[in-house]
Amino acid sequence: MDTIQLHIDGQSRPAEDGGTFETVNPHSQAVWATVAHATRSDVDDAIAAARRAFDDGPWPRMSPGERQEILHAVADAVTGHLEELAQLDSRDMGKPIAAARAKDIPRVADNLRFFADYAAMATDERLPMTTGHHAYTTHDPAGVTVAISPWNFPLMLASWKIAPALAFGNTVVLKPAEQTPASAARFAEIAEEAGLPPGVLNVVLGFGPDDVGEWLTSDRRVDRITFTGESNTGRAIGQAAMRNLTPVSFELGGKGANLVFEDCDLEAAVEWSIKAIYTNAGQVCLAGSRLYVQRAVYEEFVARFVEAAEAMVVGDPSDEATQIGPLASEEHFGKVSSYLDLVPEEGGKILTGGVGAGWTVRPTVITDIDPAGRVACEEIFGPVVVIQPFDTEEEGIALANDTPYGLNAMLFTENLRRAHRVAGLLRAGSVWINCFFVRDLRAPFGGYGDSGIGREGGAYSREFFTEPKAVIIEP
Ligand code: NAI
Ligand code: MG
Repeated sequence: MDTIQLHIDGQSRPAEDGGTFETVNPHSQAVWATVAHATRSDVDDAIAAARRAFDDGPWPRMSPGERQEILHAVADAVTGHLEELAQLDSRDMGKPIAAARAKDIPRVADNLRFFADYAAMATDERLPMTTGHHAYTTHDPAGVTVAISPWNFPLMLASWKIAPALAFGNTVVLKPAEQTPASAARFAEIAEEAGLPPGVLNVVLGFGPDDVGEWLTSDRRVDRITFTGESNTGRAIGQAAMRNLTPVSFELGGKGANLVFEDCDLEAAVEWSIKAIYTNAGQVCLAGSRLYVQRAVYEEFVARFVEAAEAMVVGDPSDEATQIGPLASEEHFGKVSSYLDLVPEEGGKILTGGVGAGWTVRPTVITDIDPAGRVACEEIFGPVVVIQPFDTEEEGIALANDTPYGLNAMLFTENLRRAHRVAGLLRAGSVWINCFFVRDLRAPFGGYGDSGIGREGGAYSREFFTEPKAVIIEP
């Protein structure tokens, strides 16, 4: 049995009271590691260590170039440990190993390199004033950042928070999701071996309410909170944070709309729409789970989509050929299956899919369901798509926007005017035209409405992880 430890002030160590919890491999359904369960005093130590590293340590005082060099060394170390880190994430959450190797872990290194370079090359403004005064801006590191990350892309989403926080000179306390603690704890050790000073990145392990997550987010010594997860968790964290006026950045749930117009390249639309809903077994905030297809191509699209869904390889995540592994936990499997149970009640038909072996759900296609029901409106976070026909462009846009969420949307058309017109009218933080999940790390990432608060990426991350300052000089 493996053990996973806390990482505080440069030391990997058990919890102060020796307490542990367990993490399960969702494919074998067996416990594969015991995890140190941080106590209140461990959390206190981690925040104090990050505070000291910020207030007295070298990290925020280094030049951006010095931090850039260290973060590049950390990225190289991640690449050097690619197989080990990919195995940890695959074992902990059931993610297909092929995806962990080819996508998740390389993206961890990309995030580190991108923000290291961005911070080193970012410019400030000079503001020549009509009064003759000379004004300019600086961006000071904000302080101690608390990062709370979810289980669906364990190390990748943790790095999306850690990389900008560190690059802009902050220190960090990270709490990965309780379902997937392994890669974050190992990453902290790897980062320090590569030159990150002790205390700059601390990892504490445990649960949310009335536990590690709540203690971290209600602490007055914390300067920034960045969170990815469920919208209701965002509400709880927001309330805790606002008592101390701590700024938050939230990337929350989604129910992504995907509009397929009759003038699209149908083959490409099917291929991308399949990726949009079934990648990571649909456990993606960006999943294209509401699929609207224009009436003239509806039947043909649905037939081709079902065929492609049925061709996907569901199975053992450690097998290189597997495209869809089990859902990440028994609890989550229960949640996704409970939505499938609702389908008949809400008038829907399951054309293909349903519950598979163990905690797997096969790529599932639902049609004819009540568009106002729970299956069509709530975030299922599994490999489950609802397809509905539409007639006019206006109707398609109205359907896409009819949601409390607004993280992302997709549209497929070969008509250039329509593509830009519709993109302009969709109320979503990212719009993909004839593709999905193509990312530029400078672009704003986040959502409208219940999908979050704020944006991260490039200058948007700098805005959040620094204190922008104005300096004015009398001439
Ligand atoms: P969650 O939002 O409860 O948990 C995410 C993280 O927040 C974990 O690290 C958890 O320990 C922490 N947390 C929970 N309550 C907290 C609190 N009161 N204070 C501080 N930290 C807290 O998500 P969960 O339960 O893992 O998944 C539930 C649903 O959330 C999923 O079925 C899915 O619909 C959605 N979700 C969305 C994600 C996204 O990428 N937007 C990622 C993960 C889940
Ligand atoms: Mg696990």
